[in-house]
Amino acid sequence: MVKVWGLVAILLFVFAGNVLSYDRPATRKNIVIHPSNNDDPTFPEQVHISLVGLDKMRISWITTKSLIMPTVVYGTESGKYEGSANATTTSYHYLLIYQSGQINDAVIGPLKPNTVYYYKCGGPDMTQEFSFKTPPPQFPIKFAVSGDLGTTEWTKSTLEHVSKWDHDVFILPGDLSYANTLQPVWDIFGRMVQPLASQRPWMVTHGNHEVENIPLFHSTPFTAYNSRWRMPYEESGSTSNLYYSFNVFGVHIIMLGSYTDFEPGSDQYQWLENDLKKVDRKTTPWLMAVVHAPWYNTNEAHQGEKESVDMKKSMETLLYKARVDVVFAGHVHAYERFNRVYQDKLDKCGPVYINIGDGGNLEGLATRYENPSPEISLFREANFGHGQLVVENATHAHWVFQRNDDDVLVQRDSVWLTSLLADSSCRI
Ligand SMILES: *[C@@H]1O[C@H](CO)[C@@H](O)[C@H](O)[C@H]1NC(C)=O
Ligand SMILES: *[C@@H]1O[C@H](CO)[C@@H](O)[C@H](O)[C@H]1NC(C)=O
Ligand SMILES: [Fe+2]
Repeated sequence: MVKVWGLVAILLFVFAGNVLSYDRPATRKNIVIHPSNNDDPTFPEQVHISLVGLDKMRISWITTKSLIMPTVVYGTESGKYEGSANATTTSYHYLLIYQSGQINDAVIGPLKPNTVYYYKCGGPDMTQEFSFKTPPPQFPIKFAVSGDLGTTEWTKSTLEHVSKWDHDVFILPGDLSYANTLQPVWDIFGRMVQPLASQRPWMVTHGNHEVENIPLFHSTPFTAYNSRWRMPYEESGSTSNLYYSFNVFGVHIIMLGSYTDFEPGSDQYQWLENDLKKVDRKTTPWLMAVVHAPWYNTNEAHQGEKESVDMKKSMETLLYKARVDVVFAGHVHAYERFNRVYQDKLDKCGPVYINIGDGGNLEGLATRYENPSPEISLFREANFGHGQLVVENATHAHWVFQRNDDDVLVQRDSVWLTSLLADSSCRI
């Protein structure tokens, strides 16, 4: 009997070996983080920041009680606050059981580039000082990228890895908290990301887990996401927090929305067309896009979903004709990098597609792939981790996928990307 099972185990191992090159890490449990100062209802928590235009920053924080005059004070020296800005406050309720805290946000600036600012946010008596650094006014620019975060032990591991790397901006291609309508999980997520998101701008777009509408009970989609994670959409001419664009020095980044209208003629489509027209590759030689549901994916997970298939059909040509350099996506809980592609074929003027939806959520990894691997897919691995993109200059950027399992930086996948501007035969 033992022998039979031994044989079965060996056969299973050999068979599985085709799919899995080594033991995939298992899912880890969700973390609960309580507010750090329960008895002070004006204590600022869930602090996070985001870029607004080239020289401003939005500071967001939540308090239990509404503040009489929610304010941010800031300056370039610790303890000395020359600037101040008043915040606007919003809150929401979800079903009958959840009432959010007071969500305050204030836009501060103009700020100097590549400068550490110290700030406090809250009401009249603010105690805790935070700090952030503004992005530099020149290359290199460093982006950390990780989607599908959630609030698990793996998420914590990803964030710890990211915090060890001195990046300028964090980019999140959708699926933030995995609250899945349990609103207190949004608060846990806010507390979990604060150490990082209060220090560097977090630029996010939405995923399916942000929708959170329940027919008849809560018919408005994106209530928590739009209230808690306001992005600079007006500044880029968008009428919706669900898609927008922004610049970081020489990089123009378009944050698309997979779970809102994307068909030709839709607001998002028209906005994208206009946004692409406004891009000046002399000032922003790099052009990137971020979306949740990937347009290219050889994992067995999430095949054939309309957000991937139909959105690609609608918008791929727009991005191709604008010579977008890279498209980041999430949704599939694994890492995959493609060659330059357009309409499913190798095309030297098409974007490089990178799926990095493996930030660490509770649903676990997507380990099964189509075999054999199609020629356009260059690297795929189901592991938790994050990506590091260093835009070195107008023509060269270095991309690394870092897996959580490795304490030191192991370049699991690393590649030099060149801007399509550098290829004269792709010039528009
Ligand atoms: C903030 O609001 C107060 C009260 O309305 C006002 O006196 C102050 O000038 C405002 N501060 C800024 C920076 O706008
Ligand atoms: C851009 O960076 C790459 C990689 O470091 C380097 O080889 C190239 O010479 C640089 N280009 C310019 C114009 O400095
Ligand atoms: Fe997703």
